[in-house]
Amino acid sequence: MRINENAESTLNKLLDDIRKNSDKMLGYPLNKKFDYSALYPFLSYTINNAGDPYELSSLGTNTMAIERSVLNFFADLFNAPEGNWWGYVNHGGSEGNLYGLYLARECYPKGIVYYCESAHYSAQKNIRLLNLPSVVIKAQANGEIDYDDLNEAVRVNRHLPVIIFATAGTTMTEARDDVDTIQAILKELRITNKYIHVDAALSGMIYPFLESRPRFAFETGIDSISVSGHKFLGSPLPCGVVISKKSNRDRIAEKIPYIDSVDATIAGSRNGITPLILWYAIQSLKEEGAHEYVQKCIEVAKYAEQKLKEIGIPAWRNPNAITVVLPTPPRKICKTWQLAVQNDIAHLITMPDVNKEKIDAFVIDLEKELIPVEC
Ligand SMILES: Cc1ncc(COP(=O)(O)O)c(C=O)c1O
Repeated sequence: MRINENAESTLNKLLDDIRKNSDKMLGYPLNKKFDYSALYPFLSYTINNAGDPYELSSLGTNTMAIERSVLNFFADLFNAPEGNWWGYVNHGGSEGNLYGLYLARECYPKGIVYYCESAHYSAQKNIRLLNLPSVVIKAQANGEIDYDDLNEAVRVNRHLPVIIFATAGTTMTEARDDVDTIQAILKELRITNKYIHVDAALSGMIYPFLESRPRFAFETGIDSISVSGHKFLGSPLPCGVVISKKSNRDRIAEKIPYIDSVDATIAGSRNGITPLILWYAIQSLKEEGAHEYVQKCIEVAKYAEQKLKEIGIPAWRNPNAITVVLPTPPRKICKTWQLAVQNDIAHLITMPDVNKEKIDAFVIDLEKELIPVEC
């Protein structure tokens, strides 16, 4: 394959821009600390994991054995029920959320979805795609679901099955909806037809490695959980993992002669490179020590919160969060440091590639913008 000089210079310019922008990104949960050069030879092949990772496919250029190893890691991490779980590597947290809600609808076609106003926008989008009725629940000030409001909303519709879309680490404030409390509400209301999906896009890779692991996954009786791969683990290509109870997945699986496999995933052709990337990241994390890796990020988040407070910014964090919330800074700062902004708050996230020096540079920039210019 060949390209002309013009096309080559377009590529070089784009690469230069991406390099510069990558260096100053604090607002999005994308870990940029990785080196997957050992995997580059795989890019010379067309690799496709079409179909179910647990079925033999007639397509030989697949990485499903590695994919299964990745799924084992996550099933273990999320305490999936032994002998009754299934999963696949997908395009990211949003697809994992779609999959969870899809299974929920197949289990309970008459169910109503309850989700918090601080849930990721993919909740609302997927609910619309699946044409499901839903109720938005109020959030508490820290971003966590308001349990009284949830209780009230479910009570009114208690004759219908309940589908809960809970979040472990909300997008703006990294708050955690407490599934045990939600289960207690459903028990008090005598709800037996229920499905709980947990969106653990970022925190699914953080909570299991905290000194004191919160209860957020299958140990709380949930039905499915999704996590992003390009967030905490880090990947140049968007990816994610969804793990569900196998009994739920069996309701939708269909044998397809063309691929000689079972169709139980959302996409047909599936990325065969991203399972390799996740597998490589997991091996490297085991070498580095996941607990230390997570702890370092929390230390930097504490540092950032402290430094911001020292210049008079009322920054705050949820317990053990790596997301530092602050009142929306001037536009120039948000643009330069690519901060995520929602209404009157912004946040920065201390992903593994963010160190104290980067926080210092950000705080200096911000302080300069805050000092009134003397006439
Ligand atoms: C809580 C939460 N859920 C889901 C997503 C979507 O994940 P993805 O970008 O992998 O689709 C995000 C992304 O920021 C998120 O913060």
